[in-house]
Amino acid sequence: MKCVDDFRWRIGKKELVPIMTGGMGVDISTAELSLAAARLGGIGHISDAMVPTVSDRRFKTRFVREKQKKYKYNVLNQDKSDVKFDLVQLAEATKLHVGRTMEAQQGTGLIFINCMEKLTMGSPRETLRVRLSAAMDGGIDGITLSAGLHLGSLALVADHQRFRDVKFGIIVSSLRALVLFLHKSVRLNRLPDYIIVEGPLAGGHLGFGMDWMQYDLKTIVNEIHRYLSEKGLNIPLIPAGGIFTGTDAMEFLEAGAAAVQVATRFTVTKECGLPDKVKQEYLKAKEEDIEVNLTSPTGYPMRMLRNSPSIGAGIRPNCEAYGYLLDGSGHCAYIDAYNRELDKHPDSDALSVSDKTCLCTHMRNYDCWTCGHHTYRLKDSTHRLPDGSYQILDAAHVFRDYLYSVDHQIMLPDRYRQTMPPLD
Ligand SMILES: Cc1cc2nc3c(=O)[nH]c(=O)nc-3n(C[C@H](O)[C@H](O)[C@H](O)COP(=O)(O)O)c2cc1C
Repeated sequence: MKCVDDFRWRIGKKELVPIMTGGMGVDISTAELSLAAARLGGIGHISDAMVPTVSDRRFKTRFVREKQKKYKYNVLNQDKSDVKFDLVQLAEATKLHVGRTMEAQQGTGLIFINCMEKLTMGSPRETLRVRLSAAMDGGIDGITLSAGLHLGSLALVADHQRFRDVKFGIIVSSLRALVLFLHKSVRLNRLPDYIIVEGPLAGGHLGFGMDWMQYDLKTIVNEIHRYLSEKGLNIPLIPAGGIFTGTDAMEFLEAGAAAVQVATRFTVTKECGLPDKVKQEYLKAKEEDIEVNLTSPTGYPMRMLRNSPSIGAGIRPNCEAYGYLLDGSGHCAYIDAYNRELDKHPDSDALSVSDKTCLCTHMRNYDCWTCGHHTYRLKDSTHRLPDGSYQILDAAHVFRDYLYSVDHQIMLPDRYRQTMPPLD
């Protein structure tokens, strides 16, 4: 019987294990998780979401505190158009996050960064240019452009010396989005090196409307595959979203995919950045505990656990410290929703904002529990412990399970060994 290990993805001179761990902001797909995938010969993504914040946590830098100090005067102002990122510091934080990760790289795999273009950061073009260039300077192997694909993104770094050496990929959820992007990249003479086709069962933001359940990954992949063949374009396709067992992955590879991108299975590994108590929430979840809603200020539907602390919370926006979703004129849908509630209840000290969520603060604090559709199956991938909690997995274990599993089986981990008290 065939398994994922029977396949390899040849990209340039490299021969890779065709498993890619997806980018999960904010630092849910940590450097450690990406390094584990690369060590085993696959591709691991780190994320460039809120990198100054991530750098502060990882390297004890003070990027957020300095920004907050600079804009302290504006905290109570409803107008956030003054708040801008210092581009030199943004580049520094990105180079640090990427550079240190690349220095630790071992094995034959690759490390890519997921770049969420919806993070408009008060100045969409300039901040994106800086993030992309700094990741390239930091030695990243590849950049995956995601969430809110700008057709002009590649052009922003066309004069970078690594423009033709770094692998560039895009995430799309429809043929239509892909065709628009390809038209632009043909003009630049720089086609993407891979295309991640993300279906409606993925975690994070979805590239579908609230009618997401009418779509299906296999159909979209087939449609894109046919289009590329008709055009004579040989660009590797990487399906993502709901690929839960090695057999799910193998079926896509057998049908011609170059690799698969997976994420949910890794959210309950030691290397994942979610706090342990949140990992337990993912493990406990039942199917009815998972919803797709419109609380993200980006306007995209997002999948999350229904009991996410972010839902309905009415915290004061902290754009002076964060502000990653501010558009070029200082707007974010959460600020508008918050101000509306504040005008209605000026004396309340416990506002609730039910329609939007302050994504920056909640993602930073791991209080927005975004997850893939199959999160409710995670409990089947590990052991229940005597105290009712679940055993956390190693990323290498999950990776190997994808690699060798047949017949949709999931390999359970070795049980935690009971430590015996010393005998005296
Ligand atoms: C917790 C979580 C956070 C995610 N965050 C992002 C993100 O920041 N950017 C992005 O492009 N995709 C994000 N995704 C999507 C994954 O990278 C991946 O494509 C998808 O979830 C794969 O499907 P699976 O989770 O069913 O394996 C996230 C997924 C999860 C589970």
